[in-house]
Amino acid sequence: MALSSHLAKKHEFHPAGAGDLRSPCPVLNALANHGIISCDGRNITANQLKDALKYIGVGIDIRLGLVNSAYAVHDEHSHCGLRNLEQVDDSGIPKRYIEQNVKNEILDFGYRAHIVACAEAALFQGVFGEGVFRQLLVKYAKAVFQEERLPFNEGWTPRWFALIVPELAMLVLIILYFAS
Ligand code: HEM
Repeated sequence: MALSSHLAKKHEFHPAGAGDLRSPCPVLNALANHGIISCDGRNITANQLKDALKYIGVGIDIRLGLVNSAYAVHDEHSHCGLRNLEQVDDSGIPKRYIEQNVKNEILDFGYRAHIVACAEAALFQGVFGEGVFRQLLVKYAKAVFQEERLPFNEGWTPRWFALIVPELAMLVLIILYFAS
């Protein structure tokens, strides 16, 4: 059996059910949908998240950076999911969506947001496109963005050599060059 089909069987996909929490991050949601982190999206420890990122091929330096910064600002009393309580309504839905529909006619996407978006794209390319020199297959991107599912069924397997900061930095620079 191909490794990807084995992984698809081992980590069966179950989309979020009623009452499950999900984040603004499609990759974290995919990890939850496969049970690699808690399916209900609750009580996920920093170590569990680090293990999950390791599983998909994120190197130790990036894991530590991402997870430590997420846990530095989020605790269960001040936040709902990854957002702080002032940013969500009683059901955990971001108020931003409602507000933007009403009054934000001009999208404010500043330089900082641009860099963050390029870094997210670079991380995505590094993990699902396996780095600088390999293509990112559209079917992989569709699985993650449209269904919040890891693309095992499409043939993806986690990379052998973990993605670390120097490679990520190169990816960010390349993406910034083309996206500016
Ligand atoms: C501890 C780990 C992670 C945390 C806390 C995290 C958190 C987030 C958050 C808060 C957003 C929303 C940003 C916004 O709305 O401005 C986001 C978006 C995103 N994340 Fe993650 N993330 C993590 C890991 C990853 C990994 C490993 C990848 C790629 C393999 C990834 C790929 C993305 C992408 C592509 C987006 C943009 C989604 C979109 O714009 O639709 N994230 N993440």
